[in-house]
Amino acid sequence: KTGFEFKPGLEGVPVTLSSISFVDGKKGILEYRNIPIEELALKSTFLETSYLLIWGELPTQDELDAFEKEIRYHRRIKYRIRDMMKCFPESGHPMDALQASAAALGLFYSRRALDDPAYIRAAAVRLLAKIPTMVAAFQMMRKGNDPIQPRDDLDYSANFLYMLTEEEPDPLEARVFDICLTLHAEHTINASTFSARVTASTLTDPYAVVASAVGTLAGPLHGGANEEVIDMLEAIGSVENVRPYIENCLKTKSKIMGFGHRVYKVKDPRAIILQSLAEQLFEKFGRDNYYDIAVELERVVEEKLAYKGIYANVDFYSGLVYRKLGIPTDLFTPIFAISRVAGWLAHWKEQLGENRIYRPTQIYTGTHNAPYIPIAER
Ligand code: CMC
Repeated sequence: KTGFEFKPGLEGVPVTLSSISFVDGKKGILEYRNIPIEELALKSTFLETSYLLIWGELPTQDELDAFEKEIRYHRRIKYRIRDMMKCFPESGHPMDALQASAAALGLFYSRRALDDPAYIRAAAVRLLAKIPTMVAAFQMMRKGNDPIQPRDDLDYSANFLYMLTEEEPDPLEARVFDICLTLHAEHTINASTFSARVTASTLTDPYAVVASAVGTLAGPLHGGANEEVIDMLEAIGSVENVRPYIENCLKTKSKIMGFGHRVYKVKDPRAIILQSLAEQLFEKFGRDNYYDIAVELERVVEEKLAYKGIYANVDFYSGLVYRKLGIPTDLFTPIFAISRVAGWLAHWKEQLGENRIYRPTQIYTGTHNAPYIPIAER
């Protein structure tokens, strides 16, 4: 008897106090710093929302201008980081490349002054500014090309899409992409954010905090699901195959990617916004088979699983949007990281505010005093 009730996955166990975001999974509400996600998605930008998340209040025009200017200034990455990335195998997953590159930033900006607001700001700016450049640089280099330098005349999202392809994106594409970043920027104490807070609680540097969160985000049950959504749509192949595919998943008890959520038991509010963005993109740039399969898939899954509270989640539609923007599937999770770094930084800052190192407990299931058996006798 330990006096503790073990909750696998810490389900329902509060692990921190936080004023950064709020989710009501039954009503389908998500708020960042008290503001509904629908307001921010339509009226704000990713950078303004990042400022809100990290510093707790919407910036004035002057504050936003100064913040955007700093981000623009810090977009470039050191040539040594670029050279390090050149040695990464092109067959490696871009999330692994990002995790290694984010950690490597700590080698260059090692001064740790966690009680200095100027240090906090500089680190937050560097991470927000450089992570997109690192993701785009790896993409270019694995194709055998030199990385594309960031362009100061383009805003955050347009510049990222430009660095990926060397083509200036259509304004609708850049805006839709920016909204996607806003929608993924924060989501209470999910696995990667918890990982960021645990790492932050040791008072290590923010690059290690982000690197550990990137590693956690990489798994298919978390950030990796939107990649799997595209693989699944590809495997289904046609609208007629949707129903048999779903019936087979239910029979074999395999998960349908892009559906279900630990918290939301109604349709994810971000999925609702993303669905309308996907519709706008498909209307302007042409419908394709993937969209039709996705619409049918959602219909059939709702018919079969709504009674269990399983609906489309954010990853279902983000995969579809990113694919329509011409982004390679294995960059979907790194893009999630580009966006979520805002939330991780907000949690890093909040954790430092009233820090106590995380040190939970365990329930030991082994025995005691076992003899050491010499190797020849085993
Ligand atoms: N397809 C089919 N059945 C499902 C699904 C699904 N996608 N999700 C949950 N279920 C069923 C599950 O089989 C179980 O049924 P039963 O009670 O009969 O055994 C019941 O619903 C509860 O499932 P669970 O796995 O205990 O639920 P959870 O809260 O642990 O899992 C989840 C949440 C997101 C890990 C899970 O829904 C899942 O694996 N979904 C597919 C992967 C995915 O889309 N992940 C992205 C999540 S959103 C973005 C993010 O947070 O990063």
